[in-house]
Amino acid sequence: MRAGEQAGTETLNLPGQVFEASQQMARVAFHTPWAKNTYRIHLDCPAIAVAIHPGQFFMVKIPGMTDPLLGRPFAVLDVGKDADGEPRFIDFGYVVVGKMTSRLAELVVGDQVEVWGPLGNGFPVAPPGRTVCVAGGIGQTPFMAVAKEALGSGHYGRAVPPATRRVTLCYGVRSTEYLAGLSDFEGAGIELKVATDDGSYGHRGFVTDLLKAELAKGDVAAVYCCGPEPMMRAVSHVMSETDVPCWVSLESPMACGFGACFSCVTKVIQEDGTWDYRRVCVEGPVFRSCEIAWD
Ligand SMILES: Cc1cc2nc3c(=O)[nH]c(=O)nc-3n(C[C@H](O)[C@H](O)[C@H](O)COP(=O)(O)OP(=O)(O)OC[C@H]3O[C@@H](n4cnc5c(N)ncnc54)[C@H](O)[C@@H]3O)c2cc1C
Ligand code: FES
Repeated sequence: MRAGEQAGTETLNLPGQVFEASQQMARVAFHTPWAKNTYRIHLDCPAIAVAIHPGQFFMVKIPGMTDPLLGRPFAVLDVGKDADGEPRFIDFGYVVVGKMTSRLAELVVGDQVEVWGPLGNGFPVAPPGRTVCVAGGIGQTPFMAVAKEALGSGHYGRAVPPATRRVTLCYGVRSTEYLAGLSDFEGAGIELKVATDDGSYGHRGFVTDLLKAELAKGDVAAVYCCGPEPMMRAVSHVMSETDVPCWVSLESPMACGFGACFSCVTKVIQEDGTWDYRRVCVEGPVFRSCEIAWD
């Protein structure tokens, strides 16, 4: 069944695209601390769980909350199954930075939230060979599903051509206490490389140092990146000196999430060398790094 056919869902038709996403009330099924100021939460939401694929996101809103009035975007971390093996839960990890995420941190199992998704384009299926994912801050969240799909241990809302694939995650944070999900990532069969700014875990320095070391091995088929903009700009610069394709997932602040308000636009360079705006919520959040006009 398609997401737009579920009870209580809506389909939006915008100029130039057919946009399908469902709006659901979802019960909090699991909620646990994941690192300092960071939590992992599962929402019982089958209509979105069956359709969402790696790198897509959904908007979350707390019913009755007027400040903020609008939902906030979160990338899918994973999809959980019910006892019959059917997709049922959507899982995300978040760091507390402001009003919505502070309220999210207070939710307990059984509370309800409003969810709207799946949204955005997502990452392409990882190519055969080795994909290196580069994450900074809370940017590791999309890469659990990317990796599980690539390694064949997770199945999301799309077909994946068979191939031998490997996934390496280069993950950088300020210090050890912000590292979220190391055992989850390792348990999924991901090769993990860690950098901390203060040297309290792994390599002392930038995640781009880890990326350069992986590129030097000469077997990288693609690079996927997500994190703070300065880090993605630095990764994009490193990748511009290689022939390896690189995709970045932008975390632009968003108001509507479905292409109507233009609050999320980013500048992209077009084929003729001129630039134009693209809406991160519908034409992204994933773009080729060479497309972005990094200021
Ligand atoms: C596609 C997408 C996927 C995302 N996935 C995740 C995820 O998996 N986990 C996660 O923790 N966060 C994720 N984010 C970021 C998340 O949406 C914001 O952290 C959240 O909206 C903050 O809401 P708030 O009300 O708590 O903060 P606010 O009160 O709105 O803001 C608090 C502070 O954070 C800044 N801020 C808010 N949003 C952003 C942003 N997007 N980028 C940079 N600074 C911001 C504000 O300027 C302000 O200084 C994602 C964003 C996008 C666009
Ligand atoms: S958030 Fe409204 S157009 Fe992207």
